[in-house]
Amino acid sequence: MNAKDNQPGKTSKKIYKRAVKVLTGGVSRNTIFRKPHPFYVSTANGSYITDVDGCKRLDFANNMASLIHGHSHPKIVEAVTEQLQKGSAFTMGSEIEVKYAELLNERTKGFKKIRFMNSGTEAVMTMIKAARVYTGKHKIAKAEGTYHGTYDYAEISQTSGPTNWGSIDKPNAVPVVEETPEGILNNMVIFPYNDIERTLEILDQNANKVACVLIDLVPHRVGLIPGNKDYIEAIYKWTRKNNTILAFDEVVTYRVNYSGAQEDYNIEPDLTALGKIIGGGFPIGALAGKAEIMQVLDPRETFLRHPHSGTFSANPISITAGYTAMSMFNKQAVLNLNKLTKTAIKQVEEAISLAEIPACVTGSGSMFRIHFNNIKPTTYREAYQEKEVKAIINELLDYLFLKEDILMINTCSCMFATTMNQQHVDQLSEALLNGFRIIKPKLEDLS
Ligand SMILES: Cc1ncc(COP(=O)(O)O)c(C=O)c1O
Repeated sequence: MNAKDNQPGKTSKKIYKRAVKVLTGGVSRNTIFRKPHPFYVSTANGSYITDVDGCKRLDFANNMASLIHGHSHPKIVEAVTEQLQKGSAFTMGSEIEVKYAELLNERTKGFKKIRFMNSGTEAVMTMIKAARVYTGKHKIAKAEGTYHGTYDYAEISQTSGPTNWGSIDKPNAVPVVEETPEGILNNMVIFPYNDIERTLEILDQNANKVACVLIDLVPHRVGLIPGNKDYIEAIYKWTRKNNTILAFDEVVTYRVNYSGAQEDYNIEPDLTALGKIIGGGFPIGALAGKAEIMQVLDPRETFLRHPHSGTFSANPISITAGYTAMSMFNKQAVLNLNKLTKTAIKQVEEAISLAEIPACVTGSGSMFRIHFNNIKPTTYREAYQEKEVKAIINELLDYLFLKEDILMINTCSCMFATTMNQQHVDQLSEALLNGFRIIKPKLEDLS
């Protein structure tokens, strides 16, 4: 069965009917929801996912950028299977945890100490708390529109829009969830990404109170727009002058270079939050950075300033999978993957020009995102999509999923894996060209 089947998702629809009776909204994770119902997976291998009706799709979502070697890579399966037979979680350490810490600390210059945990959300939360403890300050500065997981502080202004984002000179701290306490909003400093003057002005107004400036170097929800070098370096200098922690969220962007996206900048952050690819397909998070700051988590201290645990932290399954995955994602593998992604971007740009639609591509390393504007956005407000544009993107993504057997991320983004090749790129760019031609009249109606 494939995309030509006229009843795609027949079995998924039946499963979803059961799902809504027992799971709220029928899902455990909003990301997988699609209208009229989510699709359910039977098996996944390499770059392909097969659904319960037997339809096989090329996967450019790679579980939201977390599968750097695609699905069920044989080396990861083998290593994890071996570890499973030895046990999956203990109230004791395992040597592989130490070996993996050695590997990651060797990989990125600024990683002197590391601590493993269970998710990117937890890594960002621990990073924020460590910054507060270390500096003795409590405000958190973050960019409008960035997604850093679901910790109360980290999620503020993630979904800001024209009706509530306020003046660009001083963006509002906008809650994502109702009844977020005022205390949290009052302790947030929101700045416009990639806007040096305004960002420094806003930071200056809070100079004595900011514990950390939280930065994603290629923030996906902002538009998968790389931070300008001048911009990131100006923030770095500001943090040095003001005794503030420079906290990078590399949960997604660690895939960009061998040492993460930070390799592209001439600075070292104080702390870095990690997740996604470092779990080799299993749940993980990690906080890495300068030894003197990481010391706030050190249980040997007489006065432990930031107690941190976690029932499944550094469980040997996630750690074994991560160690195996990151050992394979060596310098050459990173270069090859980024080169393939560059070719894909070029081919998508050619499809855009052949279809004669107003669109452009942003991204970095092994990720890209398509925007339906002629000019590449450089800020959140420029990249912001009104609901009419979102509806057209959904139509394009549904067409790709249902008729071309391709899965992309719902922001119109692709995250590559080392299992991909030129044939996959050709399939993607041809499918996109067909899709662009279908949505073209709707885009024209908008302008
Ligand atoms: C930049 C960034 N930070 C943090 C997170 C949270 O990671 P997790 O979903 O593992 O909690 C995400 C998840 O997508 C992310 O994109």
